[in-house]
Amino acid sequence: MMAHNLSLNETDSKLHDAEVSQSSSSAVKRRLEEDDEEVSPRKKLITEESLHSEKVATHYNKLKECGLAERNKSRIVYMRNFNNWLKSVLIAEILDKVRQRRREINVLDLGCGKGGDLLKWKKGRIDKLVCADIAAVSIEQCQQRYNDLRRRGHPNDRTFYAEFITSDCSRELLSEKLQDPELQFDVCSCQFVYHYSFESEAQADTMLRNAYTNSFGNEVFSVTFQKKGEYPLFGCQMAKKYNMRLVYKKTFNEFFEEKVKDEKNKVLMQWMQALEQYPIDERGQLASDSPGEYDHAKRKAADPAVRRPLGTLSKSEWEATSIYLVFVFEKML
Ligand SMILES: C[S@@+](CC[C@H](N)C(=O)[O-])C[C@H]1O[C@@H](n2cnc3c(N)ncnc32)[C@H](O)[C@@H]1O
Repeated sequence: MMAHNLSLNETDSKLHDAEVSQSSSSAVKRRLEEDDEEVSPRKKLITEESLHSEKVATHYNKLKECGLAERNKSRIVYMRNFNNWLKSVLIAEILDKVRQRRREINVLDLGCGKGGDLLKWKKGRIDKLVCADIAAVSIEQCQQRYNDLRRRGHPNDRTFYAEFITSDCSRELLSEKLQDPELQFDVCSCQFVYHYSFESEAQADTMLRNAYTNSFGNEVFSVTFQKKGEYPLFGCQMAKKYNMRLVYKKTFNEFFEEKVKDEKNKVLMQWMQALEQYPIDERGQLASDSPGEYDHAKRKAADPAVRRPLGTLSKSEWEATSIYLVFVFEKML
């Protein structure tokens, strides 16, 4: 759920995921090999998990905050915009739903990153936002963006109050770090983050507890994450333990098909340039020049019944989006 530049790092980071875990596991292996033979298996496991978290934090801390112009040059700019559109639609829908019951809305953004979703929260007229992330540099940038958002706003324009917490949300309970430990959330948003806690059951459980603990009456926990197979344990089964009911589950493709039927989402999609134009006009260039990447669009565009230009993504981008899922859980009273 996000602002217009947000999902930029998401897809990058996903691509990096494999590298992070690979290098992490070889570093861990080296470290463990150097370790004293007497170290208990549990201690080894803890060391391995801590190293992974450290790698994740370091990776995100090192990501440069590049400007919009730079981001627009990216090979995957449309997929990033697409992910961003998807989060915008999801956030707006959930806030509308919650607003039917609540006048004031408090949100927890678990793994908020650099604050790409701040504008979405502002548009959704929420009252309070708590941003938490393991990467201290991202939290600083998120806070800076929030300050800019406040400064830029019209004096009559109400911007939500925000609090920022650097924390490994898969190991620490946020309730212990909140300015007001009694603060109750109506929505917990966890976008492209939850899978990082799948290092161990304990970590996934703590992340979920963070989504659950301070939430309050029939709230919504919405998540987007990678579909690395099914999640019998870490996903829905675990949510049951916390009395959270799965109310929505769709692949990104399914979500797109469903939501794009709504004219207002379609207009937003065009405005956010969430799809690439095919065929491109004579001055332009497709995002990918690899053979076969637009065969699907070419076939479709050849149909005289179809209006041109089409909006599309390259084959690889469609494939990448199809491995993600949108989940929404509701806390049972
Ligand atoms: C792909 S980015 C998504 C950022 C943001 N939610 C968005 O949609 O733009 C993943 C984020 O998860 C954060 N993260 C990963 N593991 C975490 C953990 N254990 N606790 C808190 N944040 C974590 C990373 O630092 C990073 O900012």
